[in-house]
Amino acid sequence: MSPKPLESFRQRLPGIIYGGDYNPEQWPRSTWQDDIRLMREANVTLVSLGVFSWSLLEPADGDFNFGWLDEVMDLLGENGILVNLATPNASPPPWLATDFPEALMVERDGTRVGVGSRGHFCPSSPVYRDRSQRMARQLAQRYGAHPALAMWHIGNEYHAQCFCDLCDDGFRTWLQGKHGSLDELNTRWGTTLWGQVYSDWNQVHLPRPVRGWVNPARELDFARFATDIQVDLYRQERDLLKSITPGIPATTNFVQFFRVQDYRRWAPETDVIALDIYPDPAKPASLVEAAMQYDLMRHLGDGKPWMMMEQAAGAVSQWKVNLPKQPGMMRLGSYQAIARGADAVMFFQWRASRFGQEKFHSAMLPHGGEASRTWQEVRQLGKELAALAELAGSRSAAEVAIVWDWENWWAVEGAAHPLNNYNYREVVAGHYQSLWRTNAAVDVVTLSSDLSRYKVLVIPNQYLMSPTQQLAVESFVEGGGHALVSYFSGIVDQDDQIIENGYPGGLRGVIGGHIRDFSPLAPGATVGITPASGQTLLSGTVQGFDDGASRWQDDLAVEGADVVAVYTDGYLAGRPAILDHRPGTGRAVYLGTHLAQEALDRVVEAVLNDAGIRPPHAAPEGVEVTERFTGSRRYLFFLNHSGSAAVVDLEVSGLELLAGRQVAVGESLKLEPVGVAVIRAGTEG
Ligand code: GLA
Ligand code: ZN
Repeated sequence: MSPKPLESFRQRLPGIIYGGDYNPEQWPRSTWQDDIRLMREANVTLVSLGVFSWSLLEPADGDFNFGWLDEVMDLLGENGILVNLATPNASPPPWLATDFPEALMVERDGTRVGVGSRGHFCPSSPVYRDRSQRMARQLAQRYGAHPALAMWHIGNEYHAQCFCDLCDDGFRTWLQGKHGSLDELNTRWGTTLWGQVYSDWNQVHLPRPVRGWVNPARELDFARFATDIQVDLYRQERDLLKSITPGIPATTNFVQFFRVQDYRRWAPETDVIALDIYPDPAKPASLVEAAMQYDLMRHLGDGKPWMMMEQAAGAVSQWKVNLPKQPGMMRLGSYQAIARGADAVMFFQWRASRFGQEKFHSAMLPHGGEASRTWQEVRQLGKELAALAELAGSRSAAEVAIVWDWENWWAVEGAAHPLNNYNYREVVAGHYQSLWRTNAAVDVVTLSSDLSRYKVLVIPNQYLMSPTQQLAVESFVEGGGHALVSYFSGIVDQDDQIIENGYPGGLRGVIGGHIRDFSPLAPGATVGITPASGQTLLSGTVQGFDDGASRWQDDLAVEGADVVAVYTDGYLAGRPAILDHRPGTGRAVYLGTHLAQEALDRVVEAVLNDAGIRPPHAAPEGVEVTERFTGSRRYLFFLNHSGSAAVVDLEVSGLELLAGRQVAVGESLKLEPVGVAVIRAGTEG
């Protein structure tokens, strides 16, 4: 019997995996030897190979040319470097477009795209599916037993949304499967509004351009379909690979904060979770958002390993302004991923391209070669990670969870709301930031996840809530959980239809109040708020509320909750802005407005304190602390984001792995700016 894919993954890739996308097809053979020499120097253990190589591997329909790939596979194998072999379906070759134009993607406006970029295929196209699977089969048959093959990298960042007639048929079939009857579809989509009632299935289409406002329920179903069709495409190829190489793990790479694919639906289909992430060096908060992505990946993996599959060694090239990573930042960011459970640190890409769209994108080996600062940092990190093998494999001990939900993302940014400039990502990231600065361990979940292990649940702007999710929140709070819910939550069901019972229909009993009116604030306007007298949530003198609130006000009527804060000006002056309710044995704190960050920090701190949540270790402001458990061992990570030197008064003894020295309780652990320390707690040496 062949080994289970995960066991084989662990056996073949123990420790922290290090490497990147390797595109030898862009270089003459003479460069390959140099690549290998330098990969060994940097302790590269795995490369993603062939991601965009289809047009070279099959220059004409059915005419294969694997010679160069054979050579590269052998060369890597002989040098102990394993391969994450890609099926190159992300960029079909030009001949496919010429021979079968129907395999090209159609944009929402009806334009059929041409070649010259990538990702230009129709996911429904039978000929695209046939040819890409034929290529995958060839690769599996040819390299399935190759000693360098470690895992499959299926496609690349699946996401294309196609509006061709075939996809249109696919959407109809998907809707028939989901809704059963046309009556049901009409009901769920609310088609009696604006006279959209369908009388035959042949009238139902993809949301191609319409004259005015779109039907939000159709958009929501389309977003679900757009994920499902990509998952289906991936699954076909994965099943094919599994039938030939059952022991080889398979995955595809996810994208950070990617609105067009619901990775909750993807995660169960992969053996290993893989993330591509490019925090913007121009935005310091992007490291907080990165932490949130890592907490999400760990939770998506549900015990499976997760890999940082792509990051940039320095600048990217796809934004308006592409800042480099300053000295030490690439290392700090890499440890941040490991600190939150990653078992791999990989880059796009190994060697910087000389031509094409990404020639100014950084790489492990920049144009400047071995003399460059980036290369020095990359090599140094590779050496360090090679000594940290014991960290691989991890589990979370988080007692706090925050909700991040794609369906809600699609819906809350949907059409015609009281406020139409929602940025769900920004709102959730703001809540996450308040958690991050406390260093409490956090999982990123949905209301459909198992919530039983959490003491605190943060629910930012969860506009969409299915009846099951409403029940989940109710039983979480009644059973002793502490929930922090922010405005415009519990408003619609899974079809974007208002939950009856006044606002927030889905949460009225939980928050102990109801909203008489939504009252968005004009752009830039703020309203004062202040803690209410006698409130017990925010203990002592309460500071941090001076910046007031913006964007949104609920006109709240209390129904059993205590009032934590009130508005101090405007037409709602004196009325409640924050509620504190204690149904059952738990607590629900409700924010009826968009708090300035510092006030949100105070509220989050108070909720965590009250629930007895502690960080794994105390640290000064700007030092990120995490715990990672591997087997019976506990590791503490200290990451200095503060911009200046910092000192941590140690509460543990153990071995600091990076400097290789014993540390003891009471000692002052010094961290340089961008410094990192990893302590294996305990005295076993
Ligand atoms: C994505 C792709 C890579 C590369 C990088 C650049 O993540 O998967 O091929 O284009 O972006 O940042
Ligand atoms: Zn299509």
